Amino acid sequence: MKKILTTITFLTMGTLGLFAQSSDIPSSVKDVERKVDSVLSQMTLEEKVGQMVQYNGSWDLTGPASGTDNKQKEERLKNGLVGSMLNVISVEATREAQRLNMENSRIKIPLMFGYDVIHGYKTIFPVPLGETASWDLEAMESSARIAAIESVAHGINWTFSPMIDISRDARWGRIMEGSGEDPYLTSKVAVAKVKGYQGDDLSNPKTIAATAKHFAGYGLAEGGKDYNAVNIGKNELHNVVLPPFHAAADAGVATFMNSFNTIDGVPATGSESLQREILKGDWNWNGFVVSDWGSIAEMIPHGFAKDKIHAAQIAVKAGSDMDMEGGAYEAGLQQLVAEGKIDEALIDDAVRRILRVKFKMGLFDDPYRYMDEDLINSIAYDEHRKTARDIAKKSIVLLKNEKNLLPIANSVNKIAVIGPLADDRDTPIGNWRAQGETNSAVSVLEGLKNAVAENTEITYSKGVSLGEGERSFLMPLEINETDRSGIPDAVEKAKQANLVVMVLGEDAFQSGEGRSQANVGLAGLQMELLKEVQKVNSNIVLVLINGRPLEITWASENIPAIVEAWQLGTESGNAIADVLLGKYNPSGKLPVSFPRSVGQEPLYYNHLNTGRPYSEQHVTYAHYSDIENGPLYPFGYGLSYTDFEYAEPELSSSTLNAGEDITLSVQITNSGDVKGKEVVQLYIHDLVASLARPVKELKGFELVELGPGESKTVEFTISEEMLEFYSASGKWEAESGEFELMVGGNSEDVKTLKLNYQK
Ligand code: BGC
Repeated sequence: MKKILTTITFLTMGTLGLFAQSSDIPSSVKDVERKVDSVLSQMTLEEKVGQMVQYNGSWDLTGPASGTDNKQKEERLKNGLVGSMLNVISVEATREAQRLNMENSRIKIPLMFGYDVIHGYKTIFPVPLGETASWDLEAMESSARIAAIESVAHGINWTFSPMIDISRDARWGRIMEGSGEDPYLTSKVAVAKVKGYQGDDLSNPKTIAATAKHFAGYGLAEGGKDYNAVNIGKNELHNVVLPPFHAAADAGVATFMNSFNTIDGVPATGSESLQREILKGDWNWNGFVVSDWGSIAEMIPHGFAKDKIHAAQIAVKAGSDMDMEGGAYEAGLQQLVAEGKIDEALIDDAVRRILRVKFKMGLFDDPYRYMDEDLINSIAYDEHRKTARDIAKKSIVLLKNEKNLLPIANSVNKIAVIGPLADDRDTPIGNWRAQGETNSAVSVLEGLKNAVAENTEITYSKGVSLGEGERSFLMPLEINETDRSGIPDAVEKAKQANLVVMVLGEDAFQSGEGRSQANVGLAGLQMELLKEVQKVNSNIVLVLINGRPLEITWASENIPAIVEAWQLGTESGNAIADVLLGKYNPSGKLPVSFPRSVGQEPLYYNHLNTGRPYSEQHVTYAHYSDIENGPLYPFGYGLSYTDFEYAEPELSSSTLNAGEDITLSVQITNSGDVKGKEVVQLYIHDLVASLARPVKELKGFELVELGPGESKTVEFTISEEMLEFYSASGKWEAESGEFELMVGGNSEDVKTLKLNYQK
């Protein structure tokens, strides 16, 4: 392939501010920096600003389009005035856009092509919240790797993933896109995903650049309402929101995306403290920040900027390097420099960062590197589906299993499969489905039919429908509230069966961006259907297909078996059948608390104790007096077809001195009669600190697989680092004093030890 920049000679290196001394700088880094400076020095101001502009390709709009029409976009592309594009799908399309840029522009800087590859490109994996329930980091890395391979085969070299916003609110539609409520677990997932997408070498044409988003606080929108204000202080910011981002930055994520929300009154997109001081300063991260869709110009309705030019000024100062389809940078930056309102050095910093990523991706060696037409024929879709099934079954969480309904016994020879999602091949694909095709998943009905014994009869009734009419990312969703005509048939089928598999939950487009809900129960007529069926046959296995935690209190009291199956992607129905029929013993654990009532939201296990924790004597303690305290199903919870017993944990020493490590060991025994996998979880509690600390915080976990009767001792290294937090003195440190260490199979059911830490 053609090398570019034939007209640009590489000049000597400029600033290498990232390293303390030039002798610390590896030669490969020096090389990239030298090239970056060289290119930069040959660019006009207009071309530099151009690098900071990202255009949507109009193939797949994910937000309101900017005023620049397509013809103008093409002209800008030809003039080398666009840094990257999003939603340009297919090798033909990206090649054409790259060609327009490379063959016509003076400066010849290759474009990057971004896309929301959130849980798979064509082979769809579980939605991220569901996948996190596997707690299987290797699996999560492999789904990202597969997504990368399928993406590059379609010309995409940059994904806007992983979303690592901590979210504690089931009302927030985008909770499905993240890893739930825990900073430690989300940090681990962040690193696994970055590794999966980027591999070890960004220039490998089978990897794509990743994006840590949304920086920051987006998941803590007030009231769980998307785009709403975030009102948190330093403690929450540093101890809850930032750790996954810091982990992603340390893992070398190529880009960050900022967020739509304000934090304490300042739009994140305009936050100097987040982007310049913390991300690029304290963390020394050298990638670039792309804005969220139009989030620079959205500082105008926020009431933070008076017009696009003002918004551009604020954003560039704050460290937002690229303007996603917002039109603010192209409208304002040149003028701002000319008027002396911003220093060109700010522009240089942004462009340097963008060029650095492009060099690392190998785009300057070959701008068409990620546009290999032949790759598409070599994609091992069958293999990818196998991995998708494997991850999907690992993501399923068994919430309840009474009357020994599961796994389904061989003696059950007549199963009624009922519900609006039972034969739905679309909902498991979920929102943010990239190129996952409509109706391309295996439904539960199909999965069961594929797997049951020949003499097992399966009947089906939809009962009621859920989402009505055409559905898509941007379209409001209509839920059926009135058509009950299918209920009698469902009741009849239930009467005639030994077992009912009831498949309920959420439509694919009930969760996702702009899909916050004030209610998180089973929408439409689903509860009515469930109750009618339960009156005639109480042998019900309820399978839930959903993106957010649901309020299922009635079901938990009245239905004997409940399986949380999320939106599991392409292989959904097969994976669910694997679990229902006992071919796979469920091992998933909730990454998020399930509420008894939506009124408890935000709900999270790692809350503060308050001055008035639980009391049997008085009503004047922190609780809701009209419902039972605590979640319906806690963080970390999930059953198995076997039982795991935890012996008393032991510490190698009850005192930890600064700079030393000690070991916590705990023996786990599989006391049942089938093989199973357990996620052994370690929590800590800092009893007295300079800031009130959560009652529990996850600090370690390990997956152990045990045969029937088998035992294993799991060891956790307890280090000073594990006890650290962002303290009142504004730094990460462990403070001397008493700690509790807790081990168990979920966040509520733990065995506790005391530890004394001395600095
Ligand atoms: C979302 C981002 C997404 C972007 C591009 C925005 O509306 O908030 O997460 O990456 O659109 O599609």
